[in-house]
Amino acid sequence: MRVKNVNIGILGLGTVGGGVVNVLTRNQAEITRRSGKNITITHAAVRDINQDRICSTDDISLTQDPFEIVNNNDIDVVLELVGGTGLAKDLVEQAIKNGKHVITANKALIAIHGNELLELAKANNTHLLFEAAVAGGIPILKSLEQGLSANQVELVAGIINGTGNFILTEMRDKGRDFDDVLKEAQALGYAEADPTFDVEGIDAAHKLAILGSIAFGCKLQFDNISTEGISQISGEDVAFATELGYSIKHLGIAKKIDNKVQMRVHPTLIPKTSLLANVDGVMNAVLVKGNAVGPTLYYGAGAGDEATASAVIADLIDIIKDTVSHDILGWQNFEDCPACDTNDIESVFYLRLLATDKPGVLADITAIFANHSISVEAVVQKQIDSKNNAHIAIITNMIKTSELNEAVAEIQKNDFIQEDVKIIHIETLD
Ligand code: NDP
Ligand code: HSE
Repeated sequence: MRVKNVNIGILGLGTVGGGVVNVLTRNQAEITRRSGKNITITHAAVRDINQDRICSTDDISLTQDPFEIVNNNDIDVVLELVGGTGLAKDLVEQAIKNGKHVITANKALIAIHGNELLELAKANNTHLLFEAAVAGGIPILKSLEQGLSANQVELVAGIINGTGNFILTEMRDKGRDFDDVLKEAQALGYAEADPTFDVEGIDAAHKLAILGSIAFGCKLQFDNISTEGISQISGEDVAFATELGYSIKHLGIAKKIDNKVQMRVHPTLIPKTSLLANVDGVMNAVLVKGNAVGPTLYYGAGAGDEATASAVIADLIDIIKDTVSHDILGWQNFEDCPACDTNDIESVFYLRLLATDKPGVLADITAIFANHSISVEAVVQKQIDSKNNAHIAIITNMIKTSELNEAVAEIQKNDFIQEDVKIIHIETLD
Protein backbone atom coordinates (compact mmCIF):
# COMPACT_ATOMS: atom_id res chain seq x y z
CA MET A 1 0.00 0.00 0.00
CA ARG A 2 1.30 3.47 -0.86
CA VAL A 3 1.98 5.54 2.28
CA LYS A 4 0.23 8.89 1.82
CA ASN A 5 1.04 12.20 3.46
CA VAL A 6 -1.00 13.91 6.14
CA ASN A 7 -0.33 17.61 6.46
CA ILE A 8 -0.43 19.17 9.90
CA GLY A 9 -0.72 22.82 10.87
CA ILE A 10 0.24 23.70 14.43
CA LEU A 11 -1.19 26.73 16.19
CA GLY A 12 1.42 27.57 18.83
CA LEU A 13 5.01 26.32 19.07
CA GLY A 14 5.60 26.81 22.81
CA THR A 15 6.04 24.03 25.38
CA VAL A 16 3.49 21.62 23.90
CA GLY A 17 3.82 22.62 20.23
CA GLY A 18 7.62 22.36 20.46
CA GLY A 19 7.28 18.98 22.17
CA VAL A 20 5.02 17.72 19.38
CA VAL A 21 7.57 18.68 16.71
CA ASN A 22 10.40 17.01 18.64
CA VAL A 23 8.52 13.76 19.31
CA LEU A 24 7.17 13.53 15.76
CA THR A 25 10.70 14.02 14.44
CA ARG A 26 12.43 11.63 16.83
CA ASN A 27 9.83 8.86 16.57
CA GLN A 28 8.98 9.38 12.92
CA ALA A 29 9.63 5.80 11.78
CA GLU A 30 7.55 4.28 14.59
CA ILE A 31 4.71 6.76 14.13
CA THR A 32 4.64 6.18 10.36
CA ARG A 33 4.56 2.44 10.94
CA ARG A 34 1.68 2.77 13.42
CA SER A 35 -0.37 5.32 11.49
CA GLY A 36 0.36 4.03 8.02
CA LYS A 37 0.93 7.59 6.74
CA ASN A 38 3.75 10.09 6.49
CA ILE A 39 2.97 12.97 8.82
CA THR A 40 4.39 16.34 7.81
CA ILE A 41 4.15 19.51 9.85
CA THR A 42 3.91 21.98 7.05
CA HIS A 43 2.92 25.18 8.91
CA ALA A 44 3.02 26.63 12.42
CA ALA A 45 1.68 29.87 13.87
CA VAL A 46 3.53 31.77 16.57
CA ARG A 47 3.30 35.22 18.11
CA ASP A 48 6.98 36.06 17.73
CA ILE A 49 8.63 34.60 14.66
CA ASN A 50 12.17 35.46 15.87
CA GLN A 51 11.94 33.76 19.25
CA ASP A 52 14.23 30.80 20.05
CA ARG A 53 12.27 27.52 20.07
CA ILE A 54 12.78 24.16 21.80
CA CYS A 55 12.34 22.50 18.39
CA SER A 56 13.78 22.95 14.93
CA THR A 57 11.60 24.98 12.55
CA ASP A 58 13.80 24.39 9.51
CA ASP A 59 11.15 22.56 7.45
CA ILE A 60 8.11 24.40 8.83
CA SER A 61 6.59 27.49 7.31
CA LEU A 62 6.06 29.95 10.19
CA THR A 63 3.35 32.58 10.27
CA GLN A 64 2.08 35.12 12.76
CA ASP A 65 -1.43 34.78 11.36
CA PRO A 66 -2.97 31.56 12.72
CA PHE A 67 -6.01 31.97 10.43
CA GLU A 68 -3.68 31.35 7.47
CA ILE A 69 -3.36 27.81 8.82
CA VAL A 70 -7.00 27.06 9.59
CA ASN A 71 -7.95 28.39 6.14
CA ASN A 72 -5.21 26.52 4.27
CA ASN A 73 -6.78 23.88 1.98
CA ASP A 74 -3.63 21.72 2.04
CA ILE A 75 -3.77 21.17 5.81
CA ASP A 76 -5.66 18.08 6.98
CA VAL A 77 -5.36 18.31 10.76
CA VAL A 78 -4.95 21.38 12.96
CA LEU A 79 -3.30 21.17 16.39
CA GLU A 80 -4.55 23.98 18.63
CA LEU A 81 -1.73 24.56 21.14
CA VAL A 82 -2.14 28.29 21.70
CA GLY A 83 -4.27 28.11 24.86
CA GLY A 84 -7.04 30.33 26.21
CA THR A 85 -10.70 30.56 25.27
CA GLY A 86 -10.75 33.59 22.96
CA LEU A 87 -8.58 33.29 19.87
CA ALA A 88 -8.32 29.52 20.36
CA LYS A 89 -12.12 29.16 20.12
CA ASP A 90 -12.32 31.24 16.95
CA LEU A 91 -9.52 29.19 15.39
CA VAL A 92 -11.00 25.83 16.34
CA GLU A 93 -14.45 26.86 15.04
CA GLN A 94 -12.99 28.08 11.77
CA ALA A 95 -10.89 24.94 11.31
CA ILE A 96 -13.92 22.70 11.94
CA LYS A 97 -16.09 24.74 9.57
CA ASN A 98 -13.36 24.27 6.97
CA GLY A 99 -13.71 20.50 7.43
CA LYS A 100 -10.45 19.98 9.30
CA HIS A 101 -9.92 17.61 12.18
CA VAL A 102 -8.75 19.42 15.30
CA ILE A 103 -6.66 18.20 18.22
CA THR A 104 -6.24 20.41 21.25
CA ALA A 105 -4.50 20.27 24.64
CA ASN A 106 -6.67 23.14 25.80
CA LYS A 107 -8.78 22.03 28.77
CA ALA A 108 -10.17 25.52 29.40
CA LEU A 109 -11.56 25.60 25.86
CA ILE A 110 -13.12 22.13 26.10
CA ALA A 111 -14.45 22.54 29.65
CA ILE A 112 -16.17 25.84 28.83
CA HIS A 113 -17.08 25.55 25.14
CA GLY A 114 -16.79 21.80 24.56
CA ASN A 115 -20.53 21.10 24.27
CA GLU A 116 -20.97 23.54 21.38
CA LEU A 117 -17.62 22.74 19.73
CA LEU A 118 -18.35 19.01 19.74
CA GLU A 119 -21.78 19.67 18.21
CA LEU A 120 -20.08 21.78 15.55
CA ALA A 121 -17.55 19.04 14.83
CA LYS A 122 -20.35 16.49 14.53
CA ALA A 123 -22.28 18.75 12.17
CA ASN A 124 -19.18 19.15 10.00
CA ASN A 125 -18.22 15.48 10.15
CA THR A 126 -14.82 16.21 11.66
CA HIS A 127 -13.08 15.05 14.83
CA LEU A 128 -12.28 17.26 17.80
CA LEU A 129 -9.96 15.35 20.14
CA PHE A 130 -8.42 16.44 23.43
CA GLU A 131 -6.65 13.58 25.22
CA ALA A 132 -3.76 15.91 26.14
CA ALA A 133 -6.14 18.28 27.91
CA VAL A 134 -6.42 15.96 30.94
CA ALA A 135 -3.49 14.68 33.00
CA GLY A 136 -0.79 15.43 30.40
CA GLY A 137 0.65 12.20 29.03
CA ILE A 138 -1.72 9.79 30.80
CA PRO A 139 -4.19 8.31 28.25
CA ILE A 140 -7.05 8.64 30.74
CA LEU A 141 -9.80 9.65 28.29
CA LYS A 142 -9.00 6.72 26.03
CA SER A 143 -8.97 4.43 29.09
CA LEU A 144 -12.43 5.64 30.11
CA GLU A 145 -13.85 5.40 26.60
CA GLN A 146 -12.20 2.17 25.52
CA GLY A 147 -10.73 -0.04 28.24
CA LEU A 148 -13.43 0.72 30.81
CA SER A 149 -16.40 1.02 28.44
CA ALA A 150 -18.18 -1.98 29.99
CA ASN A 151 -18.43 -0.25 33.37
CA GLN A 152 -20.67 2.18 35.14
CA VAL A 153 -18.09 4.54 36.60
CA GLU A 154 -18.69 5.25 40.29
CA LEU A 155 -15.75 7.50 41.04
CA VAL A 156 -13.01 9.40 39.28
CA ALA A 157 -10.50 11.06 41.57
CA GLY A 158 -7.01 12.22 41.06
CA ILE A 159 -4.10 14.56 41.13
CA ILE A 160 -4.68 16.35 37.87
CA ASN A 161 -2.55 19.46 38.09
CA GLY A 162 1.19 18.93 37.82
CA THR A 163 2.16 22.41 38.95
CA GLY A 164 0.13 22.18 42.16
CA ASN A 165 1.48 18.73 42.98
CA PHE A 166 5.03 19.91 42.31
CA ILE A 167 4.54 22.84 44.70
CA LEU A 168 3.01 20.73 47.51
CA THR A 169 5.74 18.09 47.17
CA GLU A 170 8.59 20.63 47.32
CA MET A 171 6.97 22.42 50.30
CA ARG A 172 6.59 19.13 52.19
CA ASP A 173 9.95 17.52 51.33
CA LYS A 174 12.26 20.53 51.23
CA GLY A 175 10.36 23.13 53.26
CA ARG A 176 10.50 25.44 50.23
CA ASP A 177 8.49 28.61 49.90
CA PHE A 178 5.29 28.46 47.82
CA ASP A 179 6.19 31.36 45.47
CA ASP A 180 9.72 30.10 44.91
CA VAL A 181 8.49 26.66 43.77
CA LEU A 182 5.81 28.20 41.57
CA LYS A 183 8.51 30.21 39.76
CA GLU A 184 10.41 26.98 39.12
CA ALA A 185 7.25 25.27 37.77
CA GLN A 186 6.80 28.22 35.39
CA ALA A 187 10.41 27.99 34.21
CA LEU A 188 9.95 24.26 33.55
CA GLY A 189 6.92 24.97 31.32
CA TYR A 190 4.42 23.24 33.64
CA ALA A 191 2.31 26.22 34.66
CA GLU A 192 -0.54 27.82 32.74
CA ALA A 193 -0.03 31.22 31.09
CA ASP A 194 -1.88 32.56 34.14
CA PRO A 195 -0.55 30.42 37.03
CA THR A 196 -3.50 31.30 39.28
CA PHE A 197 -5.32 28.71 37.14
CA ASP A 198 -2.97 26.11 38.61
CA VAL A 199 -2.82 27.23 42.23
CA GLU A 200 -6.49 28.20 42.60
CA GLY A 201 -7.75 24.91 41.17
CA ILE A 202 -9.28 26.31 37.97
CA ASP A 203 -7.08 24.17 35.72
CA ALA A 204 -7.94 21.06 37.74
CA ALA A 205 -11.64 21.99 37.54
CA HIS A 206 -11.38 22.28 33.74
CA LYS A 207 -9.91 18.79 33.64
CA LEU A 208 -12.43 17.38 36.10
CA ALA A 209 -15.29 18.75 33.98
CA ILE A 210 -13.94 16.71 31.05
CA LEU A 211 -13.30 13.60 33.14
CA GLY A 212 -16.74 13.72 34.77
CA SER A 213 -18.43 14.21 31.43
CA ILE A 214 -16.76 11.23 29.79
CA ALA A 215 -16.94 9.00 32.88
CA PHE A 216 -20.65 9.55 33.52
CA GLY A 217 -21.97 10.29 30.02
CA CYS A 218 -23.02 13.81 31.00
CA LYS A 219 -22.71 17.09 29.12
CA LEU A 220 -19.80 19.25 30.27
CA GLN A 221 -20.75 21.29 33.32
CA PHE A 222 -17.72 23.28 34.44
CA ASP A 223 -19.90 25.80 36.31
CA ASN A 224 -21.12 23.13 38.72
CA ILE A 225 -17.68 22.30 40.06
CA SER A 226 -16.89 23.43 43.58
CA THR A 227 -13.31 24.69 43.37
CA GLU A 228 -10.68 25.51 45.97
CA GLY A 229 -6.96 25.98 45.35
CA ILE A 230 -3.78 25.30 47.30
CA SER A 231 -2.67 28.87 47.90
CA GLN A 232 -4.08 28.86 51.46
CA ILE A 233 -2.20 25.70 52.51
CA SER A 234 0.30 26.70 55.17
CA GLY A 235 3.40 25.08 56.62
CA GLU A 236 1.35 24.34 59.77
CA ASP A 237 -1.17 22.33 57.72
CA VAL A 238 1.62 20.35 56.05
CA ALA A 239 3.22 19.63 59.46
CA PHE A 240 -0.08 18.67 61.13
CA ALA A 241 -1.03 16.43 58.21
CA THR A 242 2.30 14.61 58.44
CA GLU A 243 1.98 14.20 62.21
CA LEU A 244 -1.55 12.81 61.83
CA GLY A 245 -0.47 10.28 59.18
CA TYR A 246 -1.69 12.11 56.08
CA SER A 247 -0.35 13.81 52.96
CA ILE A 248 -2.01 16.90 51.54
CA LYS A 249 -2.85 16.46 47.87
CA HIS A 250 -4.84 18.70 45.55
CA LEU A 251 -7.53 16.39 44.22
CA GLY A 252 -10.28 16.52 41.67
CA ILE A 253 -13.11 14.21 42.70
CA ALA A 254 -16.17 13.28 40.60
CA LYS A 255 -18.91 10.92 41.75
CA LYS A 256 -22.32 10.05 40.41
CA ILE A 257 -24.74 9.34 43.25
CA ASP A 258 -28.47 8.75 42.65
CA ASN A 259 -28.15 10.18 39.16
CA LYS A 260 -26.64 13.43 40.50
CA VAL A 261 -23.10 14.41 39.65
CA GLN A 262 -20.83 15.63 42.43
CA MET A 263 -17.64 17.34 41.26
CA ARG A 264 -15.16 19.12 43.48
CA VAL A 265 -11.55 20.26 43.44
CA HIS A 266 -9.87 20.96 46.75
CA PRO A 267 -6.82 20.23 48.89
CA THR A 268 -7.40 16.88 50.59
CA LEU A 269 -5.74 14.97 53.40
CA ILE A 270 -5.23 11.39 52.29
CA PRO A 271 -3.57 8.59 54.27
CA LYS A 272 0.21 8.65 53.78
CA THR A 273 0.14 4.97 52.86
CA SER A 274 -2.36 5.39 49.99
CA LEU A 275 -1.17 5.12 46.39
CA LEU A 276 -2.27 8.67 45.55
CA ALA A 277 -0.32 10.05 48.53
CA ASN A 278 2.86 8.78 46.93
CA VAL A 279 2.33 10.55 43.61
CA ASP A 280 4.83 13.38 43.84
CA GLY A 281 6.30 16.24 41.85
CA VAL A 282 4.81 16.93 38.44
CA MET A 283 3.36 13.42 38.26
CA ASN A 284 -0.42 12.98 38.03
CA ALA A 285 -2.54 9.96 38.88
CA VAL A 286 -6.20 9.24 38.27
CA LEU A 287 -8.16 6.64 40.19
CA VAL A 288 -11.23 5.25 38.41
CA LYS A 289 -13.66 2.91 40.11
CA GLY A 290 -15.90 0.95 37.77
CA ASN A 291 -18.74 -1.26 38.94
CA ALA A 292 -17.28 -4.26 37.14
CA VAL A 293 -13.53 -3.72 37.19
CA GLY A 294 -13.26 -2.18 40.68
CA PRO A 295 -10.50 0.35 41.36
CA THR A 296 -7.94 1.13 38.66
CA LEU A 297 -5.13 3.68 38.80
CA TYR A 298 -3.39 5.58 35.99
CA TYR A 299 -0.07 7.32 36.66
CA GLY A 300 2.23 9.50 34.57
CA ALA A 301 3.64 12.95 33.90
CA GLY A 302 0.87 15.54 34.17
CA ALA A 303 2.64 18.35 32.33
CA GLY A 304 5.69 19.08 30.25
CA ASP A 305 6.54 19.25 26.57
CA GLU A 306 7.06 15.65 25.46
CA ALA A 307 4.65 13.96 27.90
CA THR A 308 1.85 16.17 26.60
CA ALA A 309 3.03 15.72 23.01
CA SER A 310 2.67 11.97 23.51
CA ALA A 311 -1.08 12.41 24.08
CA VAL A 312 -1.49 14.90 21.21
CA ILE A 313 0.21 12.56 18.76
CA ALA A 314 -1.80 9.54 19.96
CA ASP A 315 -4.95 11.50 19.03
CA LEU A 316 -3.40 12.25 15.65
CA ILE A 317 -2.69 8.58 15.02
CA ASP A 318 -6.28 7.73 16.05
CA ILE A 319 -7.61 10.20 13.47
CA ILE A 320 -5.34 8.91 10.75
CA LYS A 321 -6.20 5.28 11.48
CA ASP A 322 -9.88 6.17 11.98
CA THR A 323 -9.89 4.60 15.44
CA VAL A 324 -11.27 7.66 17.20
CA SER A 325 -13.42 6.98 20.23
CA HIS A 326 -13.90 9.76 22.69
CA ASP A 327 -15.77 12.31 20.56
CA ILE A 328 -18.01 9.74 18.92
CA LEU A 329 -18.61 6.91 21.31
CA GLY A 330 -21.61 8.09 23.27
CA TRP A 331 -20.99 11.83 22.98
CA GLN A 332 -24.14 12.51 21.02
CA ASN A 333 -26.12 10.69 23.71
CA PHE A 334 -24.70 12.67 26.59
CA GLU A 335 -27.29 13.90 29.07
CA ASP A 336 -27.82 17.04 31.11
CA CYS A 337 -27.06 15.46 34.49
CA PRO A 338 -28.30 17.30 37.61
CA ALA A 339 -25.56 18.49 39.98
CA CYS A 340 -25.34 17.58 43.65
CA ASP A 341 -25.66 20.47 46.16
CA THR A 342 -22.20 20.97 47.74
CA ASN A 343 -23.84 21.42 51.16
CA ASP A 344 -25.00 17.81 50.96
CA ILE A 345 -21.49 16.39 50.41
CA GLU A 346 -20.49 14.08 53.24
CA SER A 347 -16.86 13.98 54.30
CA VAL A 348 -14.45 13.61 57.19
CA PHE A 349 -12.82 16.99 57.84
CA TYR A 350 -9.55 18.36 59.19
CA LEU A 351 -9.90 21.74 60.92
CA ARG A 352 -7.10 24.01 62.04
CA LEU A 353 -7.84 26.76 64.52
CA LEU A 354 -5.57 29.46 65.91
CA ALA A 355 -6.86 30.02 69.43
CA THR A 356 -5.76 31.75 72.62
CA ASP A 357 -4.16 29.11 74.80
CA LYS A 358 -6.29 29.32 77.98
CA PRO A 359 -8.22 26.81 80.05
CA GLY A 360 -11.65 25.87 78.68
CA VAL A 361 -11.00 26.64 75.00
CA LEU A 362 -10.91 23.02 73.89
CA ALA A 363 -13.95 22.25 76.04
CA ASP A 364 -15.91 25.12 74.42
CA ILE A 365 -14.95 23.92 70.92
CA THR A 366 -15.87 20.31 71.57
CA ALA A 367 -19.18 21.40 73.17
CA ILE A 368 -20.13 23.22 69.95
CA PHE A 369 -19.29 20.11 67.93
CA ALA A 370 -21.36 17.98 70.31
CA ASN A 371 -24.34 20.34 69.88
CA HIS A 372 -24.13 19.71 66.15
CA SER A 373 -23.74 15.93 66.63
CA ILE A 374 -20.18 16.03 65.33
CA SER A 375 -17.66 13.65 66.88
CA VAL A 376 -14.06 14.68 67.33
CA GLU A 377 -11.85 11.77 66.24
CA ALA A 378 -8.46 13.37 66.98
CA VAL A 379 -7.01 16.59 68.39
CA VAL A 380 -3.43 17.86 68.22
CA GLN A 381 -2.31 21.15 69.74
CA LYS A 382 0.87 23.18 69.20
CA GLN A 383 1.93 26.32 71.07
CA ILE A 384 3.28 28.61 68.43
CA ASP A 385 3.69 32.26 69.21
CA SER A 386 4.70 34.83 71.82
CA LYS A 387 1.04 36.01 72.02
CA ASN A 388 0.09 32.75 73.73
CA ASN A 389 -1.78 31.43 70.71
CA ALA A 390 -1.97 27.75 69.84
CA HIS A 391 -2.68 25.96 66.60
CA ILE A 392 -5.23 23.21 67.18
CA ALA A 393 -5.83 20.52 64.56
CA ILE A 394 -9.08 18.56 64.81
CA ILE A 395 -10.34 15.61 62.82
CA THR A 396 -14.11 15.04 62.70
CA ASN A 397 -16.22 12.01 61.90
CA MET A 398 -18.04 11.70 58.56
CA ILE A 399 -20.54 14.57 58.41
CA LYS A 400 -22.51 16.69 55.97
CA THR A 401 -20.72 19.85 54.79
CA SER A 402 -23.71 21.98 55.86
CA GLU A 403 -23.49 20.64 59.44
CA LEU A 404 -19.78 21.30 59.63
CA ASN A 405 -20.20 24.84 58.29
CA GLU A 406 -22.82 25.65 60.94
CA ALA A 407 -20.56 24.42 63.75
CA VAL A 408 -17.53 26.27 62.38
CA ALA A 409 -19.53 29.52 62.07
CA GLU A 410 -20.41 29.18 65.75
CA ILE A 411 -16.81 28.47 66.79
CA GLN A 412 -15.57 31.38 64.72
CA LYS A 413 -17.67 33.86 66.75
CA ASN A 414 -15.64 33.22 69.93
CA ASP A 415 -13.10 35.84 71.05
CA PHE A 416 -10.46 33.17 71.59
CA ILE A 417 -10.40 32.36 67.84
CA GLN A 418 -7.62 34.45 66.25
CA GLU A 419 -8.06 33.76 62.53
CA ASP A 420 -10.42 32.03 60.09
CA VAL A 421 -10.80 28.35 60.83
CA LYS A 422 -9.11 26.29 58.11
CA ILE A 423 -11.22 23.40 56.76
CA ILE A 424 -9.75 20.61 54.60
CA HIS A 425 -11.50 17.43 53.42
CA ILE A 426 -10.09 14.06 54.43
CA GLU A 427 -10.70 11.23 51.96
CA THR A 428 -9.76 7.57 51.81
CA LEU A 429 -10.13 6.72 48.15
CA ASP A 430 -7.86 3.83 47.25
P1 NDP B 1 3.01 28.21 25.63
O1 NDP B 1 2.76 29.57 26.19
O2 NDP B 1 4.32 27.58 25.91
O3 NDP B 1 2.80 28.23 24.05
C1 NDP B 1 1.77 28.95 23.43
C2 NDP B 1 2.15 29.15 21.97
O4 NDP B 1 1.08 29.83 21.32
C3 NDP B 1 3.41 29.98 21.77
O5 NDP B 1 4.22 29.40 20.78
C4 NDP B 1 2.87 31.33 21.28
O6 NDP B 1 3.76 32.00 20.40
C5 NDP B 1 1.63 30.90 20.55
N1 NDP B 1 0.67 31.98 20.47
C6 NDP B 1 0.05 32.62 21.49
N2 NDP B 1 -0.76 33.58 21.02
C7 NDP B 1 -0.65 33.55 19.67
C8 NDP B 1 -1.22 34.31 18.61
N3 NDP B 1 -2.06 35.31 18.86
N4 NDP B 1 -0.88 33.99 17.36
C9 NDP B 1 -0.01 33.00 17.09
N5 NDP B 1 0.56 32.23 18.05
C10 NDP B 1 0.24 32.52 19.32
O7 NDP B 1 1.82 27.28 26.12
P2 NDP B 1 1.85 25.70 26.35
O8 NDP B 1 2.49 25.05 25.20
O9 NDP B 1 2.34 25.42 27.70
O10 NDP B 1 0.29 25.38 26.38
C11 NDP B 1 -0.48 25.30 25.20
C12 NDP B 1 -1.81 24.66 25.53
O11 NDP B 1 -1.59 23.35 26.04
C13 NDP B 1 -2.62 25.37 26.62
O12 NDP B 1 -3.98 25.24 26.36
C14 NDP B 1 -2.26 24.59 27.89
O13 NDP B 1 -3.26 24.66 28.87
C15 NDP B 1 -2.17 23.20 27.33
N6 NDP B 1 -1.36 22.26 28.07
C16 NDP B 1 -0.10 22.59 28.48
C17 NDP B 1 0.69 21.68 29.12
C18 NDP B 1 2.06 21.99 29.60
O14 NDP B 1 2.69 21.14 30.24
N7 NDP B 1 2.59 23.18 29.31
C19 NDP B 1 0.20 20.31 29.37
C20 NDP B 1 -1.14 20.05 28.88
C21 NDP B 1 -1.87 21.00 28.27
P3 NDP B 1 5.19 32.53 20.90
O15 NDP B 1 5.98 31.29 21.24
O16 NDP B 1 5.75 33.25 19.74
O17 NDP B 1 4.93 33.38 22.08
N1 HSE C 1 -0.57 23.66 34.01
C1 HSE C 1 -0.98 22.31 33.85
C2 HSE C 1 -0.48 21.50 35.02
C3 HSE C 1 -0.42 21.77 32.55
O1 HSE C 1 0.43 21.95 35.72
O2 HSE C 1 -1.00 20.41 35.25
C4 HSE C 1 -0.91 20.39 32.24
O3 HSE C 1 -2.27 20.38 31.95
